[in-house]
Amino acid sequence: MEKSRLVLVSTIVVLSMSLFSIQAQDASGQQTPWVAPAEADALVNPLDDNQAVLDKGKALYTAECVVCHGRYGNAETDIAETLEQKPKNFTKEDFLTQSDGAIFWKLSEGRGLMQPFKTMLTEEEIWSVIMYVKVLAQDDN
Ligand code: HEC
Repeated sequence: MEKSRLVLVSTIVVLSMSLFSIQAQDASGQQTPWVAPAEADALVNPLDDNQAVLDKGKALYTAECVVCHGRYGNAETDIAETLEQKPKNFTKEDFLTQSDGAIFWKLSEGRGLMQPFKTMLTEEEIWSVIMYVKVLAQDDN
């Protein structure tokens, strides 16, 4: 990542922390689970599961997501340590067992520090990054 971009992301993160730290927590300070509406489960990934799509997803993931969710998707990043609202660990059961549609909805709408990516990425880009994120936990793509 370019330095200027890292600085920008860090600045946004720090500014957003104060604004959004309450939204994703309950009264005891625990991060509340993020649940997509049931209708989201009906959304199906329209893309073919092939290497070209995975490569595209990987490029997007590396540019937009690694800083918080980490190279291996386990959210063990320097930034994550400083955040109250923890980025999701994609290698865990509770993430991997949800529908692609639920992930699509969360990624599109955002919550707190997790920005609404529908304003930045096309639907096709979002689906390709979802495909990549799901294999990230399983092998070394
Ligand atoms: C600024 C840090 C940051 C960046 C950059 C970021 N995320 Fe997140 N992400 C988060 C945080 C924090 C959460 C937890 C939100 C919550 O539960 O309140 C999250 C949650 C998610 C979730 C929801 C998981 C679940 O089941 O609850 C998905 C999916 C996700 N991120 C994917 C991505 C993808 C893909 C990208 C890149 C396109 C990305 N994120 C970029 C911080 C980030």
